[in-house]
Amino acid sequence: MKVLVVGATGYIGAAVVHALVTRGDAVVAMSRSGKSPHEGAEGVVGELADTEVLSAAAGEADAVVHATAPTGDESVETAAIDALTRPGRPLLYTSGIWALGATGRDPVDESAPVNALPIAESRLRIERRVLAGGGTVIRPGIVYGQGAGIPAMLVGWAAEYGSGRYIGSPATRWPMVNVGDLADLFVRVLASAEPPRIWHAVDEPAVSTVALAAAADIAAGGPGRAERWSLGEAAEVIGEPLATALSTDQAIGSAHTARLGWAPKRSAVEDVERGSYVAGG
Ligand SMILES: NC(=O)c1ccc[n+]([C@@H]2O[C@H](COP(=O)([O-])OP(=O)(O)OC[C@H]3O[C@@H](n4cnc5c(N)ncnc54)[C@H](OP(=O)(O)O)[C@@H]3O)[C@@H](O)[C@H]2O)c1
Repeated sequence: MKVLVVGATGYIGAAVVHALVTRGDAVVAMSRSGKSPHEGAEGVVGELADTEVLSAAAGEADAVVHATAPTGDESVETAAIDALTRPGRPLLYTSGIWALGATGRDPVDESAPVNALPIAESRLRIERRVLAGGGTVIRPGIVYGQGAGIPAMLVGWAAEYGSGRYIGSPATRWPMVNVGDLADLFVRVLASAEPPRIWHAVDEPAVSTVALAAAADIAAGGPGRAERWSLGEAAEVIGEPLATALSTDQAIGSAHTARLGWAPKRSAVEDVERGSYVAGG
């Protein structure tokens, strides 16, 4: 299968390229830099705003994976989705669990009502456009692994402030997914005969942000301290939309992923404390 991956040099995109190449697919790896994240993939230059380039590349592919960072311009995002959409050809769009908003204590699946956080409001409209065109939406939890992503920011805070930090209530939990497991799910969805739908990509439904902050402190060389950061103080440093998102309590599962044989068993806290986030680890 020939697969176009847009956003191929990113944290998620590069892992998906790796998984596809490993499976034996021919991969066209698109990003603004045009670099290929894997020697087995062809790197090409492309930009979401250039719909002609997107459309031409998509026209030559059997499937498309969309994993770019948000541009902040909804009209650009929407036009890009339209350029990548063809009837009957799989399009996997990478959304995120912030489209769901706060969930309550028990894990919710893909049928849960949505109440998007401000940071993800346009995401919901884009999701609907993807689904209306016959595409598939993947909502990853907070992605971790390879010492990167949001947990790397936690380790950075621990190093900078002398203690791990969580934002808002100590009862806050994040759904977590390992980046390699996430890439494996993309491949499984592409290989499956499942109809286009929303998939929640989550290894662990609800991980304590206090536990993650303490693990980040250990990764940064500390004893495992976790200190509360008020929403207001955090917002001054990282901006209100991101601070609000990181202070939101979510518990998320899936009604569908187990059917694909996808049931990873890993611990994000363990990886942050003793794995890929530890210098030299
Ligand atoms: N990381 C997480 O924890 C997480 C969780 C849930 C959902 N998500 C979502 O998943 C998506 C990918 O996240 P990520 O963490 O992998 O992001 P990332 O590491 O920042 O990667 C973004 C990718 O998009 C490309 N890109 C950026 N702007 C582009 C544009 N205008 N046109 C074409 N390509 C562009 C980048 O390469 P160039 O700069 O070379 O173009 C890069 O390949 C995002 O939408 C993010 O919101 C992420």
